Amino acid sequence: MKHNRRRMLENDARLQERDRLYRQNGYDSSESGRYVLKCAGRLSGRVLEIGTGKGRFLVQLARKVSRVVTVDPNAAEQKFAKLNTAHKRVRHKIRFVVADGADLPFADASFDAVVSVNALHHIRNLRGVLREVLRVIKPNGKIVLSDFNAHGFRIMDRIHRAEGRTHEHVKYDVASIIRLFRQNGWRVARSSGCCQQVLVVTRDGGKR
Ligand SMILES: C[S@@+](CC[C@H](N)C(=O)[O-])C[C@H]1O[C@@H](n2cnc3c(N)ncnc32)[C@H](O)[C@@H]1O
Repeated sequence: MKHNRRRMLENDARLQERDRLYRQNGYDSSESGRYVLKCAGRLSGRVLEIGTGKGRFLVQLARKVSRVVTVDPNAAEQKFAKLNTAHKRVRHKIRFVVADGADLPFADASFDAVVSVNALHHIRNLRGVLREVLRVIKPNGKIVLSDFNAHGFRIMDRIHRAEGRTHEHVKYDVASIIRLFRQNGWRVARSSGCCQQVLVVTRDGGKR
């Protein structure tokens, strides 16, 4: 127990340090998460998150909904997210599943909402993931996809460059994502904030 608590505190200190650096460079991850949730509007029922990462957004999402299932193929990242969500006291609301978003171990039409934040640019098979999102979402469900906008990417690229690293950034075309949803009978509302862009995909254009 003591050991776990120490790991939670160490993990939190690392996250806070990283978030401070992001803020100094103009990216506030809490603010960005709040922006995504504001654009998303009402989220209820069974919610799936794609791309757990270290669980920053997951904490904010879990505070808003009653249950979340989150998937990521990277089990090591999910371990950090487990520590983070335990530390923030929302761990009990979350089911962690190690899985690729392009091969989801869930039934057709089994989620009321699918949400993904800052993961799109890490996904190599985005078409495959979008196909799976369309398979598992209920016909009247809501899909919320958010990633950095151009300003957000410039900030992240600058931080990584200063550290002598390259920010992994798989290129994708937002217009073709929107087209894909429209071709499948969905409406897409697109917003852009300080550093995030957000697509809210519903049958009725997000009027709920
Ligand atoms: C930057 S992190 C996500 C951050 C997190 N959503 C947040 O806002 O706190 C991106 C994550 O996407 C995951 N990812 C990459 N390819 C994926 C895929 N095919 N399916 C699901 N997750 C994937 C990576 O393993 C990584 O943990």
